[in-house]
Amino acid sequence: SHISAFDYVVFGGTGDLAMRKLLPALFHRELDGQLPPEGRVIAAARGAMSDDAYRALVWEALSRHVGDRLTDDAWTAFARRLSYAQVDARMDARSGEGWEALGATLDQRPDHVRVFYLATAPDLFGPISQRLHDLGAITPRSRVVLEKPLGHDLASARRINDEVGRVFTESQIFRIDHYLGKETVQNLLALRFANALFEPLWSSAWIDHVQITVAETVGVENRGGYYDGSGALRDMVQNHLLQLLCLVAMAPPATLDRDAVRDEKLKILRALAPIENADVETLTVRGQYRAGAIDGQPVPGYLSEPLVAADSATETFVALKTEIRDWRWAGVPFYLRSGKRLGAKVSEIVIAFKPIPHSIFPVGGGAVAPNRLVVRLQPDEHIRLHLMTKEPGPGGMRLREAALNLSFAETFKSRFPDAYERLLMDVVRGNPTLFMRRDEVEAAWSWAEPILNAWARDPRRPHPYTAGTWGPSAAIALIERDGRTWIDDHDR
Ligand code: BG6
Repeated sequence: SHISAFDYVVFGGTGDLAMRKLLPALFHRELDGQLPPEGRVIAAARGAMSDDAYRALVWEALSRHVGDRLTDDAWTAFARRLSYAQVDARMDARSGEGWEALGATLDQRPDHVRVFYLATAPDLFGPISQRLHDLGAITPRSRVVLEKPLGHDLASARRINDEVGRVFTESQIFRIDHYLGKETVQNLLALRFANALFEPLWSSAWIDHVQITVAETVGVENRGGYYDGSGALRDMVQNHLLQLLCLVAMAPPATLDRDAVRDEKLKILRALAPIENADVETLTVRGQYRAGAIDGQPVPGYLSEPLVAADSATETFVALKTEIRDWRWAGVPFYLRSGKRLGAKVSEIVIAFKPIPHSIFPVGGGAVAPNRLVVRLQPDEHIRLHLMTKEPGPGGMRLREAALNLSFAETFKSRFPDAYERLLMDVVRGNPTLFMRRDEVEAAWSWAEPILNAWARDPRRPHPYTAGTWGPSAAIALIERDGRTWIDDHDR
């Protein structure tokens, strides 16, 4: 759809996220012809830098992250959009010069949609918003994007929401969860609500349990300083995994409207069974990686990573079992796990159906395995339905499991856009459906906080696991106690 003329102001514009994700995403949309000619991108950061120096920095980042789509023509068109503003939002930074220059730049185009993208530490979200307000830079067509982490717990999330909410209305605030921009995550909506087939089965009547795995092979890379104060529950579960859970579990929204979808997700978050006190011990497992090997290469343990405390008890892996207390889902366990330095980079949702109520087939003809619907979010994106079939040929009724496989790469030969591309454009369009509303974020924190508190009180260390494996054995015990196993579709 049509994209209005915009000014994209990226705070933290020289940072890792801007270079790795935001600028490449905008550049891809340039190549796809989606950016209006008047669209501008203004990077804002603390250091001194000329516009040309900033362009050189972006060119370098694009050459690393965009591959052979980086052509001279496209770069020329993109580079003319870029400029740099030196601003400092820290409370003690009183100089307003850079801010005034930024305001003057914006005032050249008062009718542009203004996007203030805050890719900074969250304690600056409030101060930056206030500065923009004082500057008179917040027009009715302005929006602000808040990157994660949105707080550290419920209280800090509320504080940030209050501070930003003082100068922006809720409909101007876009809280990003980049998982919602992933093609396969949006496909969950298509799968569930553009097909009649699944919805009648989508409840405790036919579903035995659900598994959500988001596994990574990377360690904490250069983010030890941030990560050591967060851990896997805050970094991945409170946001990405819970959002996936919501999209799997929510009731059909009446429309795709911003609030229709988010209202349904919120109901799920509020129906999540609390995990508190003694339950934390039985329903959650936290792990921390030790030295090991990834793809045959030795890698250090978490405690030897830069900027990580030598005796850190931060979890780099979490597995947990939860339940949604409503009519549709009561009694259906949702098993979630996520970790760094695991055996493979793979994100997957498994809907495990119940066994058939009665078998008409001779014993000895092969076991009848329950059906499974697997949504592979990344890599090798696919939707796979595991079914029982008869093996061809003689030998009687021999049953075997086989899969209907919808591979996105094979079905659609087109480029697979990065999650940020769609989301960055949705902000300009003013469409917040795939962004988190304040009440959602706070409901997610309310659920996560008792777990974090119980862990903080627990003197025991997280379970160790060797880098390159699938996490601590306690995570396997967590699900096997229920007579189930983690299903790793990628092993097949
Ligand atoms: C981020 C986390 O939100 O998501 C990172 O902060 C994590 O720790 C990343 O590596 C994973 O995203 P993706 O898109 O690579 O699955």
